[in-house]
Amino acid sequence: MAKRIEVKDLNLYYGKFHAVDGVSLTVPPRSVTAFIGPSGCGKSTVLRSLNRMHEVIPGARAEGCVLLDGEDIYGSSVDPVSVRRTIGMVFQRPNPFPTMSIRDNVVAGLKLAGEKDKRKLDEIAERALRGANLWTEVKDRLNRPGGGLSGGQQQRLCIARAIAVQPDVLLMDEPCSALDPISTLAIEDLIQELKKDYTIVIVTHNMQQAARVSDQTAFFNLAGVGQPGRLVEIDDTERIFSNPAQKATEDYISGRFG
Ligand SMILES: Nc1ncnc2c1ncn2[C@@H]1O[C@H](COP(=O)(O)OP(=O)(O)O)[C@@H](O)[C@H]1O
Ligand SMILES: [Mg+2]
Repeated sequence: MAKRIEVKDLNLYYGKFHAVDGVSLTVPPRSVTAFIGPSGCGKSTVLRSLNRMHEVIPGARAEGCVLLDGEDIYGSSVDPVSVRRTIGMVFQRPNPFPTMSIRDNVVAGLKLAGEKDKRKLDEIAERALRGANLWTEVKDRLNRPGGGLSGGQQQRLCIARAIAVQPDVLLMDEPCSALDPISTLAIEDLIQELKKDYTIVIVTHNMQQAARVSDQTAFFNLAGVGQPGRLVEIDDTERIFSNPAQKATEDYISGRFG
């Protein structure tokens, strides 16, 4: 199996608290991987460790390996800022810069990186907005504030912003949990489009969503209160939802807990 991401024996801490224990998994290129499991089992923590956002939290640290195309993103010579450009992130609550124009929201990262050519920025903005299935809805109001869009449009704006810097991987932490059902379906359709170009890892508390959008599913669980979260199993989504190897997975997906 081709590997875009390979995680090896990853342990994640917040100060002395051991939040996630010994995760190993691989993510093939141009696929969607869903993280599911009960609240507090470490899904967001693992996701944030995949682009070195975890360590931004004071006291937080990671032990183990995260390889992107065979290179350890935690290597001593690696710049975390460039990691975050290659591995973009979309959050639970859409977080556009509310007073900044739609166009400038999309190209904010590029402007920050020093790109000044207006024509080039316009081209990139259009490409990213098309890629995020938002172009036709906003093309006549690119100079209006991003905060004026609906929640679902704001989330697609954030996806446009994430893809404008041409990442390889997109991490999404419950990207639909603040959205209505129609906007949720729009994002799910978009994820199917995006996986032609990107590798996607999505945390979702919605098992139907995991079943609908993902190729493989990772089930995380907690052994008990105060215990670290751990990966119970990862497999083809179809198999996880029809015939998982572990009883804990079956109990969770059949709604017996969580
Ligand atoms: N910023 C933080 N500081 C300290 N502990 C945290 C922080 N974020 C999460 N945790 C703890 O780490 C564990 C895993 O949390 P999280 O990754 O958010 O779980 P999930 O996303 O699966 O709900 C939980 O016990 C949570 O309380
Ligand atoms: Mg979470």
